[in-house]
Amino acid sequence: MEKILVIGSSNTDLIATVKVFPAAGETITGKSFLQAMGGKGANQAVAAHKLGGKVKFITCLGKDANGQNTLNYYKEEGLDVSSSLIADVPSGTAIILVDEKGENCIVITPGANNMLSSEYILQVEEEISASDLVVLQMEIPYETVKTVCELAHRMKKRVMLNVAPARQLDADLIKKIDILVVNETEAETISGEKIEAIGIEAIVDALLAMGADTVVLTLGKKGCLFKNNEIAHFIPAFSVKTLDSTAAGDTFCGALAAEISRGRDWEEALKFATAASAICVTRMGAQPSIPTEKEVREFLISYIEPVIN
Ligand code: RIB
Repeated sequence: MEKILVIGSSNTDLIATVKVFPAAGETITGKSFLQAMGGKGANQAVAAHKLGGKVKFITCLGKDANGQNTLNYYKEEGLDVSSSLIADVPSGTAIILVDEKGENCIVITPGANNMLSSEYILQVEEEISASDLVVLQMEIPYETVKTVCELAHRMKKRVMLNVAPARQLDADLIKKIDILVVNETEAETISGEKIEAIGIEAIVDALLAMGADTVVLTLGKKGCLFKNNEIAHFIPAFSVKTLDSTAAGDTFCGALAAEISRGRDWEEALKFATAASAICVTRMGAQPSIPTEKEVREFLISYIEPVIN
């Protein structure tokens, strides 16, 4: 089995469920509150770990209660964070509102996540050489993401980059990405094209033309489109009742990394990742909603397509 190295953010998520999102200047009453572990990096690392991958996670936590709680939680989960950094700043937090449709609004305050610098990565670069697949997102400094991609590419490691939150990428960075995972907004931001104008296949082709080796375009309730120079697959989503869509994309990325590390073919890996994120949206919170490998395998066996009249 290949070794997965996730480098990215950790947040403490403060989640309130609401009927509808408030307008500017408005105070509203929430329906429920949940504090849980989150952060796109941590969510993907925990997902890959719970879904059977051999994972190491490099993150940065603050010297505060949230940082200590997070560290204790990783220990309980059995996630290896031994090369992570502790900084004398507040840990990352995310304030999340979830509405009745399960859609969310998120405000992140990066705190310690911003201390995960290129200089620190150079100190722990042997972790990259000891891994096979490096997984990254965009909640740590962009310069750090570029440094990791540069090192991993030079060491001939596979790089999976989930460009969340959305941002533009340097032309030479995208050429170092083996697996680019993006949603519709992220694909539009990177390519400068509009899906409405050119369609989903053309936007994936635009990202491939920019130099990514393989592109996975996630389409929420519709599924995902996968393409590289040899093959293309469209995997439809499973029909489930969405309670909270938070971390659906992270669960998808972690699950995909776990499946790739087991040497599964693309179609099988994408179906597994789609099933993992379907289970995730039926539960509240980021990390509390990530299923185990057993749950995903059972879901794939028992799923019955709903009959639409
Ligand atoms: O992708 C979901 C995550 O985004 C949350 O866990 C929150 O911490 C933000 O990073």
